[in-house]
Amino acid sequence: MSIVGIVPAGGSGVRLGARGPKAFAVLGGRCMLEWSVEVLAGACDRVVVAVPPGHDREPDWVAGGPSRSASVRNALDAVPEAQLVVVHDAARPLLTLDLVRRCIAAAPDGGGAIAAAPVTDTVKEADSSGRVVRTLDRASLWSIQTPQVFGADILRGALAVDDATLAAATDDASLVEAAGHTVVVVEASAENFKVTTAADLRRAEGILANRC
Ligand code: CTP
Ligand code: MG
Repeated sequence: MSIVGIVPAGGSGVRLGARGPKAFAVLGGRCMLEWSVEVLAGACDRVVVAVPPGHDREPDWVAGGPSRSASVRNALDAVPEAQLVVVHDAARPLLTLDLVRRCIAAAPDGGGAIAAAPVTDTVKEADSSGRVVRTLDRASLWSIQTPQVFGADILRGALAVDDATLAAATDDASLVEAAGHTVVVVEASAENFKVTTAADLRRAEGILANRC
């Protein structure tokens, strides 16, 4: 079975506020995206990165699109041989090989498996005026991460939607779910967090320094 890693790295990183794209920010002496590519290479036959247009280098650095899901679709278009796809954001550089392997092992035929951490905060729903509508049952809530693993044909079908639907999707699994497929969660550590701000980047530096 051909397993392909896809790394969406095509964002600009506005909230990080670095000089260039977030995926190229230096973290532990290398580009942020390199951490994820190296780990994925331990479990995948090939790893393709969707980078900001202008940074693309054929064949495995392809131009990203205007939204995260558009970037994933561009990368998927470049890997016709893929049978199983492991999508992992460059913005989560603390990925471990164990988590990739567990997501691959959990992916059901005809569905997907996604890394997720149990929610530890109390979560409430509020209306537009800020008035609390309800308190959700935390026991059944998960904070969703990547990697997200799908059969390649299932993801291709789920991504075959209009640009507005693509742009509104905050992860791949929501599109796969909307297409009627089963998605299961795989318990992950909250340490696999997404680097969004400069404070996150410093936190990731500290964790990586302690891992070595
Ligand atoms: N991403 C992408 N293509 C886009 C937008 C985002 O491949 N058009 C990727 C990012 O590079 C990142 C992941 O999707 O690895 C999650 O996005 P996010 O954390 O929002 O990163 P940025 O969009 O770069 O950051 P910001 O929203 O602060 O600009
Ligand atoms: Mg973004």
